This record gives sequence, structure tokens and C-alpha cells, in this order.
Amino acid sequence: MTDNRAPNRLLDLEELNDPYFANILADLDQLTAQESISYLHPSKRWEYPWAMSRAKLEPGSRVLDAGCGASIFPIYLAKIGQRVTGLDLDVPEGLNEAHGVNVDYCQAQLTELPFEDATFDNIFCISVIEHLGHEGAPAALAEMRRVLKPGGRLLVTTDFYEDADAEIIYEGEGGPFPVDWGFYDEDCLNRYLLDAPGLKLEGELDLRVDWDEVKPTMRRFHGYPYTSVGLTLVRE
Ligand SMILES: C[S@@+](CC[C@H](N)C(=O)[O-])C[C@H]1O[C@@H](n2cnc3c(N)ncnc32)[C@H](O)[C@@H]1O
Repeated sequence: MTDNRAPNRLLDLEELNDPYFANILADLDQLTAQESISYLHPSKRWEYPWAMSRAKLEPGSRVLDAGCGASIFPIYLAKIGQRVTGLDLDVPEGLNEAHGVNVDYCQAQLTELPFEDATFDNIFCISVIEHLGHEGAPAALAEMRRVLKPGGRLLVTTDFYEDADAEIIYEGEGGPFPVDWGFYDEDCLNRYLLDAPGLKLEGELDLRVDWDEVKPTMRRFHGYPYTSVGLTLVRE
């Protein structure tokens, strides 16, 4: 594990070569290759290992992948012995059967979670919060806080750019087209995540970035000029 960086930080492509990251990525790639239902978006190659490094996973602990889509991540979490719930507006079919696991897929709104208070030890919310808008994000944060156990961790990542109102053109495979979904800047991070009631950032946050260098690098990596940031929020 790389431990000379701030625990809460921006996507760093060099980190993909870190043995901790590389081992998780090898497992994710191997699982994704077994069927054609799941996916592994390029930026998640950093986001999932980062989130794993910050979670507190005991054998059999209860985890929620909040806004899981058809990602391979809940399957991976189940394979390593977690009791996994995957929640989304639209849940995938056939993944449990393809991988011989038992993820509890649940079709629901993040702003109205159908779980008891203090159910989960960890919640992963990977590249979802920036899609929820000005009212949805605070409501989802409040719900995720409610269903986390006291001391439980919310590992949240979001797309991050210098200006959340900028017009961005996707230039990757299938592009170009205007990006019509949300991303966060520092102001959004503060407003929605760092000031979320009852959730406290654990550890330092490093947002230093050289945008002149990062923009072309990220365009080559996943088609957008923005990067991602990972935050560890602990339920007080
Ligand atoms: C960019 S995708 C990320 C999916 C997955 N976490 C991953 O790592 O690939 C955003 C996901 O959030 C889900 N989503 C958006 N709004 C939601 C809501 N209000 N409640 C539940 N899921 C939602 C979408 O259906 C989509 O699957």
C-alpha cells in the first residue's frame, strides 16, 4: 500500500502500478472477463482500489454498494467474503448466477433507502453523488448516514473538475458529444460532502492539481478532462 499520500486524494494514474492496486485490478479484470453483463469503467480502476484501501472490511461485514449499476464491484466484494447489498434504480440480472455469488440486488432510490437504521459497516458510493443534483445529493447523504452503523464508513468518489459549470466534450470511444451529467468542483465538495451533517472526513484531503497536465492526460485515459476524488466519511 502506498502510504505517503493523503488518504483522501485525486485519481493518480501512477498509483495503478502500486502492487495493492494492481492485485485488485487483476481480480476485477478476471471477473469482468467471465461474462458480458458487468463493466469496469476506466476511472474505476483507481476508484475501487482506493475505496478498498480506505474501507474497514471484516470477514462477513455488511456493505452497501449505493448506485451499483452493473458494475463488477459488488461481485468482487462478495467474492472476498462480504455480505453485499447492491442498490440502484436499475439493477442487473444474471450476475449472481454468472459468478456463483449472492449479492442482494435492490431496486430503489438512494434518497429513500429501504433499510433499517445502522445496518451497514461500510457504504461504497462510487461516481454516483454527482448525478443526483442539488436536492438529491443532500437527501442521499442523509439516508446513507442513517443506514450506516455509528463509526461506519462511507467511501465516496465523484468526478472532479476545476469548474462544475464548465461545458465539457467527451472525446473518448463513441464521442465526441457534450457531457450532460454532473461533476463536482471544490465548492460542491465542500457543500455536499465535507459539510454533510453527521458525517466527518477521516484523514487529510489533498486536492492539489496541475490542471494543464491533468486535462490532456485524463482525456487520453477516459475521454474527459476531469479527474476523480475519493473521500472517507465516517458516521459520527
Ligand atoms: C456513473 S454510474 C456508477 C455506477 C457504479 N457505481 C460504478 O462504479 O460503475 C451512476 C449510477 O447511479 C445510479 N443512480 C443515479 N441516480 C440514482 C438514484 N436516485 N438512486 C439510485 N441509483 C441512482 C445510476 O442508475 C447509475 O447506475
